[in-house]
Amino acid sequence: MRPLRKIIFPAAGMGTRFLPATKASPKEMLTIVDKPLIQYGVEEALAAGMDEIIMVTGRGKRAIEDHFDISAELEANLKSAGKSKLYKAVSDVSRMAEVVYVRQKQALGLGHAVLCASPWINDEPFGVSLADELIVHDKPAMRQLRDVYEATGCSVVGLVQVPESQVHRYGIVDFVAEEHGLLRLMNMVEKPAAEDAPSHLAIVGRYIFTPALMTLLKDVKAGKGGEIQLTDAIAALARQEPVYGVLLEGQRFDAGTPEGFLQANAILGLQHPDYGDGFRQALKGWL
Ligand code: G1P
Repeated sequence: MRPLRKIIFPAAGMGTRFLPATKASPKEMLTIVDKPLIQYGVEEALAAGMDEIIMVTGRGKRAIEDHFDISAELEANLKSAGKSKLYKAVSDVSRMAEVVYVRQKQALGLGHAVLCASPWINDEPFGVSLADELIVHDKPAMRQLRDVYEATGCSVVGLVQVPESQVHRYGIVDFVAEEHGLLRLMNMVEKPAAEDAPSHLAIVGRYIFTPALMTLLKDVKAGKGGEIQLTDAIAALARQEPVYGVLLEGQRFDAGTPEGFLQANAILGLQHPDYGDGFRQALKGWL
């Protein structure tokens, strides 16, 4: 089995669900407690042993590059001021990973964004992570997927159960349950109406693919919303070779919506080792 080192972060979307907050800054830089969303995603990938990061960005996304870059002046200032905890936080983030940036010049869809990274994949297996989905667990979501990939050698898609009222927001899978709790995915539909949804299991923005996915993506035509959909390429892959689904464990927030973003800040704020107790006390005063 080829080693799994590479992971693509599509981060070129316009963040329309978050306007006006995302008018001049990337949605991936929205902050959950004390870190931007994209940093949670990168830390999760590194914890799963995927350290070759390909970030697909677009216009107005420079802040992401700056975030993972060395800020020599800031580091020098923090160091000389003796702010060692802040210095460590800032210097760690600029050294945590080697990141390659690719620009998606036109907003043609998630599948197209992933395809933009294909020159860096070189016929290797790779992960894809959507940073606006935040999944918190001792065993990182990407590690949960990786275990299934290593056991099967097949592509794996992270899933969560959603209520019927939300199936129109996600890719929804049709599956057959196999041994050892594995779900073999037979088909998937991007953002179906409730009556057309094959199940209530939603694709949650964590994927590991065999290289065949890239080949199929090249031929995917515009689908739902006139966009080239990653979901359509996975459906084609599932017709060609086994693709598995894994129900992810952990606290999951769809932080790409204002509701999910607020919940993530509230819950992770309450759990934060430095701010949690104070935040809880302050909330009691407000409620
Ligand atoms: C994307 C995918 C969808 C998936 C969702 C997870 O949709 O196309 O299949 O269920 O992410 O958040 P988006 O939210 O980018 O519209």
